[in-house]
Amino acid sequence: MTEIPDHLLQRTRSRRQALGLPVSGVDGAGDGAAAAPASGGGVATTTSGNLPKGPVAPSGSRPTSKAAARPAAPYAEASARRTRIPVWAMPVVAILPLWALLYAGTMTKPHSKTPTLVEAGGEVFSAAGCAGCHGASGGGGVGPAIAKGAVIATYPNPVDQVRWVILGSTGGGELYAKAGKTSIGGMPAFGETLTLSQIVEVVLHERQTLSGQKAEADAEGWADLRKLPEEFSALGYTSGEVEMILEEMAAQEGISMPEHE
Ligand code: HEC
Repeated sequence: MTEIPDHLLQRTRSRRQALGLPVSGVDGAGDGAAAAPASGGGVATTTSGNLPKGPVAPSGSRPTSKAAARPAAPYAEASARRTRIPVWAMPVVAILPLWALLYAGTMTKPHSKTPTLVEAGGEVFSAAGCAGCHGASGGGGVGPAIAKGAVIATYPNPVDQVRWVILGSTGGGELYAKAGKTSIGGMPAFGETLTLSQIVEVVLHERQTLSGQKAEADAEGWADLRKLPEEFSALGYTSGEVEMILEEMAAQEGISMPEHE
C-alpha cells in the first residue's frame, strides 16, 4: 500500500468533519482506503438538491475507487456550487426580444434628411419674398421673369447673380447695366438679411430649378465666389465659409470645381 501524504489525509479529515462524518478512521494508508466507502455511501447522492449546500464528497461524482480517496478538485467544487443561471439574468433575457426590436429600428434611415442646397434655395425663395415679386415658378410679376433661361441670359456667371441679390437695384445698377438691362429699380438688397449660403442656395434654385441651368455649366463660374470675402468685406464673408459652400456644392451635384489657386 502506498503511503498517503499527510496533507492529503488532513484534507480528508477536514472534509469529513465538514460533512459531519467520523474523522477517527482517517489515520493511515490502510484506514484511508477503508474510510472511502463510508464517505461515498453517506453523501453519494449528488442530486442538484443538495449541491449548493456544501462541498460534495469526491466519491459521489466519480464512482471509481481511485477517485473516492481524493477530495474534490477546487474547480469541481466551484462548478458544483455554481447556480446555473443567475436570477438577475432572467429580466435581461426577458428584455432581449424588445432590445432586438429597438436595435432593428435604428437600422432604418431617418425619414427627414437635410435638404440639398437647391432644395434649401427653394425654401429661401418663398421665405425671403422672392416668389412674391417674381412668381412662385419664376414667371414674373412686380419683378421680371426669371424662368426658362431668362436669368441665365442676364447673368451667365452665377456669382454675378449672387452679387446682384446682395446689392439689389440700388447697389447693383452697374451690374445690371453690364448685363445689357436697364434698371427700373425695385429689387431689394439682400446682403444684410440673408447669409451668403442662403443667397447661393436661392441663386441655385433660380438657375437650376426655375431656369433649367445644368450644374456642370456653372461649375467654373462658381469659383468666383472666392472673390466675395474681399469685395464685400463689410458683410463679413470668410474664405472658410466660401470653401465650405463650394465643397458642398461639388459633392452634392457631382461636379468638379476649380481648385483654389
Ligand atoms: C419687392 C419685389 C422683389 C423682391 C421681394 C425680389 N425681387 Fe428680384 N427683382 C425685382 C425687380 C423689380 C427686379 C428688376 C430690377 C431693376 O430693374 O432694377 C428684380 C430683378 C431680379 C433679378 C434679375 C432678373 C433678370 O433677369 O433681369 C434676379 C436674379 C432677382 N431679382 C432675384 C431675386 C431674388 C433671389 C429674390 C429673393 C431673395 C428677389 N429677387 C426678391 C423685384 C423683387
